[in-house]
Amino acid sequence: MSTWTHRHILDLAAFSRDDFAMVLELAHRFRTMPLTGARKLPALQGRLVATLFFEPSTRTRSSFELAAKRLSADVQSFAAASSSLSKGESLLDTARTYVAMGADMLVVRHQNTSVPQQLAEALEAAGERTMVLNGGDGLHSHPSQGLLDLYTLAHHFDPSNASIAALQGKRLLIVGDILHSRVARSNLWALTACGVDVVLCGPPSLVPDAFAGFVDAPPPGQANDPVPQRGRVSVTRDLDAALADVDAVMTLRLQKERMSQHLLTDLDRYHRDFGLTHQRLQQCKATIPVLHPGPVNRGVEMSGALLDDTARCLVEEQVRNGIPVRMALLYLMAAAESPAEPSVVPSA
Ligand code: NCD
Repeated sequence: MSTWTHRHILDLAAFSRDDFAMVLELAHRFRTMPLTGARKLPALQGRLVATLFFEPSTRTRSSFELAAKRLSADVQSFAAASSSLSKGESLLDTARTYVAMGADMLVVRHQNTSVPQQLAEALEAAGERTMVLNGGDGLHSHPSQGLLDLYTLAHHFDPSNASIAALQGKRLLIVGDILHSRVARSNLWALTACGVDVVLCGPPSLVPDAFAGFVDAPPPGQANDPVPQRGRVSVTRDLDAALADVDAVMTLRLQKERMSQHLLTDLDRYHRDFGLTHQRLQQCKATIPVLHPGPVNRGVEMSGALLDDTARCLVEEQVRNGIPVRMALLYLMAAAESPAEPSVVPSA
């Protein structure tokens, strides 16, 4: 195995192909192990993982907490609504409270871009060893969701290994509210790094043409793109034509809470133009899988019948895969922090 170099996990733009391969390989081992009840791995015994979610979450927080528990960590979760934030405590002071309680890892979600990064920088500057995982920041990044989507696709194309090799040369369509989606941004970095060409589709207000250049340069503050040859990104407005020529499709929620202006008024029209249904999927060259990070608005981005069709729609599979993928992240970070420790390396 290569060496894990990410002390904090903030943005997939900084991940190399080897990083993606490491996460997928380990996640696949965790997925195939029976790890419920008493059958936990001792890798994070004695460590404290705190989840600090300043924004609502159903899947991500629970999934991180279950992942940490399956590695025997202690888990403490912070609820913004009932916390001392309402008494004027700053976000950094809130985080430092959990550090003082001994948190080894903080999983942080915030509505503003870069909050997890700023927290990581502040903790480094204070000489703290606490590691930060981004659980979703504003429109910017949602690394663990990008990785679980990557794993779900790799597993779909290659169920026995789920290796990144299975993704090379594939085409994925992402349809919907790309502009407000941190999931789409993380998926763009992850998928193109593994050789997937990504087609983006939606109205110009939600999918500006400029997205075609999204992965052409590393983001500000990052010197080099760690992936020499990425898959390509293109933008189309014609969903039916795009569906005819892809290997998988992901659709996204209209993220109204992140829109600075009301960009769409007619949801029926949106469903007609960009919603996925069984009938619409008849355009596809084969039976392609449908992904969605959740939460889904039934009858808007996808029909209820399609969402319930688990042979076709991988939403539940994505949720299931979130646990082993997040276990892999926690494991790799802990192992890199004290190489002598996490003693039990899962065998193949
Ligand atoms: C997403 C998020 O919070 O960015 N959900 C998730 O974590 N699975 C997508 C969304 O909010 O629509």
